[in-house]
Order: sequence, then structure tokens, then C-alpha cells
Amino acid sequence: MVRPLIAGNWKMNGLSGDSDTISQIARGLEGLDNVADCLICPPATLISKAADTASGTRLTVGAQDCHANVSGAHTGDVSAEMIADIGASHVIVGHSERRADHGESNEVIAAKAEAAFRAGLVPIICIGETLDEREAGQTIEVVSSQLAGSIPAGAFGKAFVVAYEPVWAIGTGKVASVDQVEEVHDKIREILGERFPGQADETPILYGGSMKPGNAAELLAASNVDGGLIGGASLKADDFLAIYGAC
Ligand code: G3H
Repeated sequence: MVRPLIAGNWKMNGLSGDSDTISQIARGLEGLDNVADCLICPPATLISKAADTASGTRLTVGAQDCHANVSGAHTGDVSAEMIADIGASHVIVGHSERRADHGESNEVIAAKAEAAFRAGLVPIICIGETLDEREAGQTIEVVSSQLAGSIPAGAFGKAFVVAYEPVWAIGTGKVASVDQVEEVHDKIREILGERFPGQADETPILYGGSMKPGNAAELLAASNVDGGLIGGASLKADDFLAIYGAC
């Protein structure tokens, strides 16, 4: 049985004052049934403060990316070890915005996931098709190929999370239908089962893409959906807690 995960990705949003939202979420969780793990991934500048704020609560804190190397001449980058050092438990790798904005390949993403394992972090490995790929009937092919290439061999026996995020549903308000979500999530579970026998049933598969309080219950009830990776709606404590409450 998979323990669900409700994860927020703040993307490039949040200043030091927004740490109040972290404490509101942490406090709000105390009043909700403990039905799922809960994670917020703020920008790197806020991880340390957020981890301090969330310490001792049910809220955990993660990062949005990491470099594949431990250290070295990589100006502007942050390693998985650095992220773990300031209190993160998870790191998102391969988000479609990084694949598009930074040209990250499946190989790079797999190396980042390996780095996360090495540092004791749980990687949240993101996959998802573009609108053109969906309209060309290539969704399953694209997602299968991203899954095969982005999950490293070292994932065997390790905790990791897969997030299916159709690119066309991210930040657009266009949410995937339950049928569309189930088709892909069922396939992901099948592929994980073939590659990681005995482990697939413990690996959370999250849906991401315009998940809001109003559609969360339906999406979270879909087959093989074990939680959500939430962007915009994670920026407001009330909305994020309402999604958690829909689990
Ligand atoms: O990582 C989160 C996803 O990109 C979803 O973002 O909820 O704003 O559509 P969104």
C-alpha cells in the first residue's frame, strides 16, 4: 500500500516573508487526519528557513532541483548534499520547466536522481508529454521513454517518487481528465512493476497539472494516483490544505 504524498512546488515564488505560509500549512496539518505525507518545495533561498519552521511538525521540506555532482566549478548550482545539509528530505528532478528551460535530458535527470540517492534524499522524478505529443497520439510512448531514461539503475531498493505532469496542464487551468490520468498512471505502475518488482506498489505516483481544491478529490481518487504535485495552489495555505484534505 502506497502512503500518499501531497507535495507543493513553489517554483520561483516566495520571499522571506512568505515563510509564514509554511507555518500556516504546518499548523493546519495538525487539524487534519494524518492520511498522507506533506511536502513543500520552496525556492532554494527559503529551504533552510522553511525546514526550521517545519521542524517537529508533519510538514517536510524539499528542493526543486539539484546538480548531479557533489561539489565543484558549477556556478549558481546547488548539490544534493547541500540541500540535505539544510534540512530537505526530497528533491524534484526533471520538472518539465527544467527540461524546457535548461535542456535537461533524461540522462542528466537520471544523474541528478542518483545524486539525490547518494545524499539520502528522495527524488521526485517528473515526466509528462507536451500538447503536440498528446495530439499526435504519442503520450504513452513519450512517458514510457522518459520513465526508462530518467530513473537510474541505482533506484533499485531505494525510495523514490514519480510525478506525471502533462505539460499542457501545468499552470494552464486545463486539467487532465480522470480517464487520461488513469491511462498514464496505470501504465507507469505497470512499467515500474516490470523494472522494479516488489517495489512498484510502494512507489508513489503523483499527478501534477492545475490541481486545485475543486478538482483534487476526483483526481486523487483515480486509479494509481497516490497524491499530487501542486504548483500554483500550493502558494496559498488554505488551498494547499484543502487539497491535502481531499486525500
Ligand atoms: O510542479 C508542479 C506542477 O508544475 C503543476 O503546477 O499546479 O501550477 O499547474 P500547477
